[in-house]
Amino acid sequence: MLTTLALHRRSIRRYNGQPVSRAELETLVRLAQEAPSWKNQQTSRYHIVTTPSLLDAARACLGGTNPQKTEGAAALIVTSFKHDIVGHTHGQPDNEGGNGWGWYDLGLQSAYLLLQAAELDIDTLVIGIRSAQQLRQLLNIPDDETIGAVIAVGHRTEDVPRPPRKPLEDILRFL
Ligand SMILES: Cc1cc2nc3c(=O)[nH]c(=O)nc-3n(C[C@H](O)[C@H](O)[C@H](O)COP(=O)(O)O)c2cc1C
Repeated sequence: MLTTLALHRRSIRRYNGQPVSRAELETLVRLAQEAPSWKNQQTSRYHIVTTPSLLDAARACLGGTNPQKTEGAAALIVTSFKHDIVGHTHGQPDNEGGNGWGWYDLGLQSAYLLLQAAELDIDTLVIGIRSAQQLRQLLNIPDDETIGAVIAVGHRTEDVPRPPRKPLEDILRFL
C-alpha cells in the first residue's frame, strides 16, 4: 500500500554492506520510468556505480559528511537529465521554467524510484551535496546531461525516526 511505503521510506545514513542485485537496481529504474514526463520526453538518465573501487571513488565526489554516510551502501545512482529538451521547443525555453522542467521530471522519476526501493525493502539516501564536475569526469557523463542528485542504495543498519512534517495549514490553501 502506497501510504505504508511512503511512511516506511526513510533517508538512511548508515548502511550494513549487504548487496543489492543488478536485477533489483533495474527494477528501481524500470518503475521510475512509469513517472509522467513533459511530452513523454523521458530525459532522465541513471549512471549506477556498483564496482567496489569505483564506488569508493564516486563516494569521494560527495560533499560534507556524505562519504561517511554512504559507507556500506551497495550502489550509488548518479541521476541526470538531457538538458534543453524538456520545457523547450526548437531549443528555446517555453516559459520561465526552462530546464527547471527537466529537474522536475527527474524529481518525479526519483520519487517513484525511492518508493519502489522501499517496496523491495531497499534503503536509499538522496544526496544533493556532491561535485557534479568530479562525478562527470570520473564516470564519463556526457556534457549534454545535467547531473542531479546521487542516490545511495543499500540496506539500513537500524531504523531511524521520521523527521516531523509541517502542519497541513502551513503548506496548503483551498480557494
Ligand atoms: C534534493 C535532496 C537533497 C538531499 N541532500 C542530502 C544530502 O546531501 N545529505 C543528506 O544526508 N541528506 C540529504 N537529503 C535527505 C533529506 O535531508 C531528507 O529527505 C529529509 O531530512 C527528510 O527525511 P526523510 O527522507 O527520512 O523523510 C536530501 C534530500 C533531497 C530530496
